[in-house]
Amino acid sequence: MVTYRYAIERADHSALASGHVLRSAPGFPGFPVRLASELLQRARVHLEGDRARLWDPCCGSGYLVSVLGLLHRDLITHVRATDVDADAVGIAARNLELLTVEGLTERERELRRSARDFGRIAFVERAEAARDLAAGLTVMGGDLPHASAVADVFTLTEPVDADLVVTDVPYGELTHWEGDAPQDPVHGLLAAMGRVLPSRAVVVVTARTRRVRLPEGVRALERVKVGNRAAVLVRARDIAGI
Ligand SMILES: C[S@@+](CC[C@H](N)C(=O)[O-])C[C@H]1O[C@@H](n2cnc3c(N)ncnc32)[C@H](O)[C@@H]1O
Repeated sequence: MVTYRYAIERADHSALASGHVLRSAPGFPGFPVRLASELLQRARVHLEGDRARLWDPCCGSGYLVSVLGLLHRDLITHVRATDVDADAVGIAARNLELLTVEGLTERERELRRSARDFGRIAFVERAEAARDLAAGLTVMGGDLPHASAVADVFTLTEPVDADLVVTDVPYGELTHWEGDAPQDPVHGLLAAMGRVLPSRAVVVVTARTRRVRLPEGVRALERVKVGNRAAVLVRARDIAGI
């Protein structure tokens, strides 16, 4: 397991680059793979169990959770991806299919067909990356169960069985808050997480900003600042009823 992850990290994460094996689309930004992995590993320290059900409630193309699922299959037992935008959820659903050996094998076949049709070596490299990711997934625990749905994060009321939320929220360049957004959307997002998650869950919110502001009186488990991004880790019980 360690060898597989080491191989991916050493390989510059090129196998996980947005649009390489995982699907991308115009207007759906990717996320730095190393930072995603760092956030997950920091959150891991605060989790109560050894394994976690992961959820991104603002999933966009599903890139962030798909990368985390492929890199950390040994920790993650289920991936949930929701977003208010139905087009985003459509792409996310296709990316989540790549959390299975069959999905990756089909992707490999598709990329090999493109290599033949367009005669470009780049497609062969991408096909090989899909094959390697499938091999890695097998070693790390096999198919990763997943689900996707359209949902406005601000109006959620039903409990969600997740232990860990990692979400990259809109920052106004390529993506914007939609739906029933309150005046302070991050506060609204955290309030929703406090409403629907088990109290022990860990929530990681990241954005392209200098600092993710927390409502007054809410304690951060940790804060992270890397380049033009910031992140904050909070416990669900600390944002219940805010
Ligand atoms: C920065 S993007 C997320 C990128 C994503 N993590 C990825 O890896 O592709 C922010 C997302 O928040 C979504 N969003 C905006 N308002 C929302 C809302 N009210 N409920 C759920 N998602 C929302 C947008 O549709 C957009 O896809």
